[in-house]
Amino acid sequence: MATTTLKDIANATGVSTTTVSIILNNKAKHISKDTKELVLKTAKKMNYRPNMIARSLVKQSSHSIGLIMPDIVNPFFAEIAKGVYEVAMKNNYTVSIFNTDDNIDKDIECIDYMIDTFVDGFVSILATDSRIEKMDTCAKKLENCSCPIVLIDRLIDGQDFMSVTTDNKQGGFLATEHLIKLGHTRIGCVCSQLNTNFSKQRFYGYLEALQKYNIKFDSELIYEGDFRFETGHRGANVLIKKGVTAIFAFNDMIAYGVYRLLKEQDLKVPKDISVVGYDDLLYSSMLSIPLTTINQPARDIGRKSAEKLISCIEGKAKDINTHDIFTPELVIRESTSKLCIKP
Ligand code: RIB
Repeated sequence: MATTTLKDIANATGVSTTTVSIILNNKAKHISKDTKELVLKTAKKMNYRPNMIARSLVKQSSHSIGLIMPDIVNPFFAEIAKGVYEVAMKNNYTVSIFNTDDNIDKDIECIDYMIDTFVDGFVSILATDSRIEKMDTCAKKLENCSCPIVLIDRLIDGQDFMSVTTDNKQGGFLATEHLIKLGHTRIGCVCSQLNTNFSKQRFYGYLEALQKYNIKFDSELIYEGDFRFETGHRGANVLIKKGVTAIFAFNDMIAYGVYRLLKEQDLKVPKDISVVGYDDLLYSSMLSIPLTTINQPARDIGRKSAEKLISCIEGKAKDINTHDIFTPELVIRESTSKLCIKP
């Protein structure tokens, strides 16, 4: 079925196309009530739908925002997306979501796409990529964007984009201190790329806790990978051979991989190895051994990011902080216990 155009309505009412457009864009201050009613009734009768693409081109604005995420199947990011979506809908913005599979090259492609499609602004959770030159390319792309941007969680060292994060150093400290207070001193770390801002901060929190309780740092107890289940499986396999009695996993997906390896090796959680994760994903409380973890308020992070972005888009930037930092919380469950001294 052919779509109704402004010209069709003009022909049907005898009103000029310009006047029809002014009335349908709700800007008709000096047009008679009768003419307005005639045009609005005719548009409804002819099922007129504004051409949003054409409107975006004219206004160089689409009343839409973008959300770039590294892994949409990771519940942490899904929760963030829900928060962004909730605030966007409340403010009559559409959301275009992009998944980059944690690949910085896709981040760069997505940023180009955002620019080409006139999104009014976007929120980005960057990929964890250890290639510094790629991060620099991404940073330059972001700097050259004319629209507002909010980075979530993964900042770029030396950059000052608006951001919403959790205090990752505090999170790393809480996880490690909890294990130390249970008597553990050989605490392994299965972490993501340590040259990324947020992983580095969690690691600094781990070091700070060791230092506070005079426990000597042993670099042999650190396994560096990425944020995936497989990293946890591989890392646990290395660390159990180093005699760890506890493992701090830099996110819950890694912790699930640790669980799998320990089960394969017939090692019991927490009797043989205590495990702490990070993110407090939905599933972590449902496991047969519910996971002790660090909670990040993902939904609130998403809400705050969208609020900042839309405030900026709508020219209310003076009322917002450049950086919002949420406080992480230790959630103690059954995957950690006092150190068992073997006979
Ligand atoms: O689980 C994904 C991880 O990547 C989270 O810990 C979050 O902080 C993000 O950086």
